[in-house]
Amino acid sequence: MRRSRDLVRPALVEAVGRLHPWTGEMAAYGLGWADTAGTPDPGGSEGKGVRQALAVLGAEAVGADGADAVPGAVAVELVHTFSLLHDDIMDDDALRRQRPAVWKAYGTGPAVLTGDALLAQAVASLAEVPGPRTAAAVRCLCATLTALVSGQAEDLRFEDRPWSGPGAVEPEQYRSMAEHKTGALLGCALALGAILGGAPDRTVAILDRAGRHLGLAFQAVDDILGIWGDPATTGKPVHADLRQGKKTYPVLVAMAGGSRSAYALETLLTSGRRIDGATAEHVAALVEEAGGRTATREEARRHLDAARRALREAALTRSAAQELDVLFTHLLDRTW
Ligand code: IPE
Ligand code: MG
Ligand code: MG
Repeated sequence: MRRSRDLVRPALVEAVGRLHPWTGEMAAYGLGWADTAGTPDPGGSEGKGVRQALAVLGAEAVGADGADAVPGAVAVELVHTFSLLHDDIMDDDALRRQRPAVWKAYGTGPAVLTGDALLAQAVASLAEVPGPRTAAAVRCLCATLTALVSGQAEDLRFEDRPWSGPGAVEPEQYRSMAEHKTGALLGCALALGAILGGAPDRTVAILDRAGRHLGLAFQAVDDILGIWGDPATTGKPVHADLRQGKKTYPVLVAMAGGSRSAYALETLLTSGRRIDGATAEHVAALVEEAGGRTATREEARRHLDAARRALREAALTRSAAQELDVLFTHLLDRTW
């Protein structure tokens, strides 16, 4: 990931430099490059850089130079940053990467605007690439944006759905939501690398599918970390999903188990009681007892295996395929 970060960084800095200075300053804060005073922040966390790494490896996997993927890597990192800025507002999450979320640091309006600026710049970064693959790359990004917004819409709408009985969220509906909100961008990152690297459509489609499965695994791990993660390493508050009534996989699958803990969980969640502090701890314990944590690990593992199987369908450069494999494992085992 360090290698792709170094490769992509100059173009990313240049793209952010094209923003209005105010939104540029907030973007630099959101990206972990600077503090609120605009000075370089050694304590700021830059995030994992997964998406840019996927774009670079996507190009290398199809035999192209990683540098060919740079505009795609910039686009996906900007879209990712935009989506986090807006997501923290939607989720009412005040903390991101150990620091106040952009909306907490600068206000909601400015954070919305910065997200918009990043989104516009993301599309521009791709649209300006010379060459015959630009239109395909922009189409890929736009389809992803539509999917991402659908996923966020589903995620928000699920908050008001009941935990059990008619209208409860089915595991397949959860998967559709997660594939849209998280999988689409990971698929797009790999696909953009392949598109810009000149790969045939079939290979692009395979990499896109692998990335989507990776995204589902990634989101399952994200859901686990949201309940049992250590805020000191995740940089996000623990139990925020539970307090917010998010229909995350561990809770959904735990409720469906039919055990005594599942029943206790259902009683608690449908009681209308506010979930905070000690109640959230209790909910987390019941979810674990009812097998929600283990089943979510298995869900993540299944999708990771599916991602690996997808990769084997394409004739990929051996070294890039190996690096992808390492990255995939790393993402499943992550604690942050
Ligand atoms: C984030 O989803 C997905 C997007 C930003 C599109 P979550 O809300 O589940 O992620 P975190 O836990 O806030 O990072
Ligand atoms: Mg969120
Ligand atoms: Mg969210």
